[in-house]
Amino acid sequence: MGPCRERSGSVRLHLLLAIQVGVIMVLTLLLLRKETSTAEQSFLTDLQQHLPQPTHRQGKRYAVLAFGLTRSTNWTLPSIEKHLFKPIRDAGGSHDLFLHTFTLDVLNNDWSGEHVTYTHQDDYKLLKPTRFLVTPEAQFDLTTQNLSDLTHYPWQADFRESTIRNLYRTNYSLQLAWALMLGHSVEHNITYDGFIATRSDVAFLNPVDVSSRVLAPYSLFVPEIFGYKGYNDRFAFGDLYGMGVYASRQVTYAKCGVEWMAGINPEHLLRLHLEEHNVNVTTTDLKIVRVRATGVLGRDEKKLAQYACASGYQYACGWRCGNNGNDFRCPYNNKFLNK
Ligand SMILES: *[C@@H]1O[C@H](CO)[C@@H](O)[C@H](O)[C@H]1NC(C)=O
Ligand SMILES: *[C@@H]1O[C@H](CO)[C@@H](O)[C@H](O)[C@H]1NC(C)=O
Ligand SMILES: *[C@@H]1O[C@H](CO)[C@@H](O)[C@H](O)[C@H]1NC(C)=O
Ligand SMILES: *[C@@H]1O[C@H](CO)[C@@H](O)[C@H](O)[C@H]1NC(C)=O
Ligand SMILES: *[C@@H]1O[C@H](CO)[C@@H](O)[C@H](O)[C@H]1NC(C)=O
Repeated sequence: MGPCRERSGSVRLHLLLAIQVGVIMVLTLLLLRKETSTAEQSFLTDLQQHLPQPTHRQGKRYAVLAFGLTRSTNWTLPSIEKHLFKPIRDAGGSHDLFLHTFTLDVLNNDWSGEHVTYTHQDDYKLLKPTRFLVTPEAQFDLTTQNLSDLTHYPWQADFRESTIRNLYRTNYSLQLAWALMLGHSVEHNITYDGFIATRSDVAFLNPVDVSSRVLAPYSLFVPEIFGYKGYNDRFAFGDLYGMGVYASRQVTYAKCGVEWMAGINPEHLLRLHLEEHNVNVTTTDLKIVRVRATGVLGRDEKKLAQYACASGYQYACGWRCGNNGNDFRCPYNNKFLNK
């Protein structure tokens, strides 16, 4: 018998997750339903008449979902502007941005080795969100106090408690950003042409090619890098269905029956979830790097920046320090911001 049935706590967890999933599903169904009852229809029509109408825009309209800590957005913003927002504009499109992030006093991340006073509470404003929600991390943690209640997965051996906690926080964050987007699109009768989810702490080393992709039903595009036997879970774009599945990973998460997979990681779990829901995943050559609160690159990304810099991409050279030019361990150097 798996730990799922042994732990009464996990029953509570599953209930909690089931309720959260329920709310999202209802919202999604509201949005997806082609046929609404007369009463619902007149309610929606009435609602929409009383809300400000968006001005008609030409071109494709995308919803960007920004989730997780904005710990380094102040460093990464130029790359976000250049490689995410500008290519959309250049193709004649536009975007609305929906952001969820946490507030906290001290950032303690054993995985990245960050233990710093958190000074980025207001940095979400840099992304000019259409709608946003900022919640205290401590408040979320109250709902998930006991880690053994939180997870029955035999996680990868080097995952410490704080790492696993961060996975749950990130999940919750993406889920809330998705909910903000659904609320906005229903209120304003907006049908987005595509959905882009990104962690708020990544820098883009090359352009996001969303405009040149056909976002067919149940399609999803993820970067090939950092897949770790699954799919990269830091960035994705796709259509409403594919991304709806992507943003509700907690469905698979709340399930029992995968205890046999020792050493599971979030990327592998994401792959299982997408496969189970028949999402058609295409990998792309997008290169994104996580940037820490200190401006330093994440532990797996130095080689990538090194390569991008050597290939002539000046922005990526901003992390280079030392005399031989091979050292990518230092914080980002502002003088490269406009390159
Ligand atoms: C956490 O949950 C486990 C399993 O349900 C239980 O054995 C343990 O006593 C709990 N710990 C705390 C501090 O509540
Ligand atoms: C919502 O937008 C669609 C097309 O974008 C339009 O056909 C429909 O009439 C709109 N509904 C309302 C209630 O305005
Ligand atoms: C980003 O924030 C950190 C910490 O507050 C600060 O030291 C750094 O100078 C900021 N970077 C930029 C580019 O503003
Ligand atoms: C949510 O958690 C699941 C299971 O831990 C993981 O597969 C997924 O990558 C997480 N999602 C995010 C956005 O971190
Ligand atoms: C999956 O997506 C790719 C890329 O958009 C497309 O070429 C392919 O036809 C799709 N496959 C299916 C089965 O829909």
